[in-house]
Amino acid sequence: MTHPLKTLWDKPSRLVVGLMSGTSADGVDAVLTKITGAGLDTKVEQLGFYFQPFESAARQRILEVAGGSFGGAREVCLLGAYLGKCYADAVRELLRQTGTEKVDLIGTHGQTVWHAPEQTPYLGGTVRGTLQIGDPSYLAEEFGCPVVSDFRVRDMAAGGLGAPLVPYTEFILYRREDADVALQNIGGIGNVTLLPAGCRLDEVTAFDTGPGNMVMDALVTRMTAGKLSYDDGGRLAASGRVIPELLGWMLTDPYLEKKPPKTTGREYYGEDYVRALLARGDYPVVDVVATATAFTAESIALSLRRFAKRMPGVLVVGGGGSRNPTLLRRLQEALPECRVQTQEDLGFSSDAKEAAAFAILANEAVFGLCNNAPSATGADHGVVMGRVNL
Ligand SMILES: Nc1ncnc2c1ncn2[C@@H]1O[C@H](COP(=O)(O)OP(=O)(O)O)[C@@H](O)[C@H]1O
Ligand SMILES: [Mg+2]
Repeated sequence: MTHPLKTLWDKPSRLVVGLMSGTSADGVDAVLTKITGAGLDTKVEQLGFYFQPFESAARQRILEVAGGSFGGAREVCLLGAYLGKCYADAVRELLRQTGTEKVDLIGTHGQTVWHAPEQTPYLGGTVRGTLQIGDPSYLAEEFGCPVVSDFRVRDMAAGGLGAPLVPYTEFILYRREDADVALQNIGGIGNVTLLPAGCRLDEVTAFDTGPGNMVMDALVTRMTAGKLSYDDGGRLAASGRVIPELLGWMLTDPYLEKKPPKTTGREYYGEDYVRALLARGDYPVVDVVATATAFTAESIALSLRRFAKRMPGVLVVGGGGSRNPTLLRRLQEALPECRVQTQEDLGFSSDAKEAAAFAILANEAVFGLCNNAPSATGADHGVVMGRVNL
């Protein structure tokens, strides 16, 4: 019998599914791609996209487990199996909609339930770790192809922060010889990638800028007693008033000062952060939503001012935050010298982009190619990230 990976290597191009479920815990982004080549010669064609939202009870459970105040081994085990099945549901529907019988490979990010990139005191010493759940075995079992998962841990073992991972794929797909490229993703967390004209991989700068939608989402959920989970179209923020003293306090955040490489998550901008924010004063929650929206914009602008070698001419925004016009307007106001555009303005898809990154990272992994960007994660060297289920 031919080794399953040998079969993949011999194909001129491969049908690869990429799956992403981010820290917003909104649902699963599933993309079908056709990938030709590998490494710097990779070409990607997008054949279909499907978003499957989580049931609201499941989202609640994910947020509780990821909040660290709920769930032991039993919960993590059951949630991991539940999510593995959700991923399989999403892929089944994606294949049905695109009329696809068989795929060659799946790359799945999994759901981050804990991310501790800094040395954390534990058992008399310190450790760092990251945990993504959503069992890839269900995908391997149903779709009968290799599945690559658990990317972040290997970068961490090599001394990196295990994040951000998309800069490697952005370097392959977006780098230009004649112009600087700046890409800002606004998911639960915000992250930016700076690709100077003609740069090498080790010249890529990328880091988490701070919260993306995470703080706004938590405030909206609280304000509407769970009826809404995000500020649709930025309408609430537009109807509120930015509270200068509260914004001023948010901008004293030490994370913003910290030099890259750096990464953050729900452990920092989750429940405790929102509680501390609300404890600053008795403000109307809609004004706090407006202020949190302004903070996301300001933290992105500050990150570019502090850490970009030169201000990019254009900042291309992707992720769910690109659907929030109030946020985009604030971002443009905070960066008058830079044109703020969305992936959609350039004819790409914000949602599919992050999922497609995991299709590409999986493709690299099965070819045994290093697929981290050490200048972005801080890893000591390049490594092949991802565990392979055959
Ligand atoms: N129509 C919209 N208006 C405003 N915000 C939106 C809209 N659609 C999505 N979002 C925001 O985007 C978030 C999801 O973004 P996403 O890129 O999927 O993040 P993640 O990778 O963390 O899952 C939602 O939680 C919400 O805050
Ligand atoms: Mg999402």
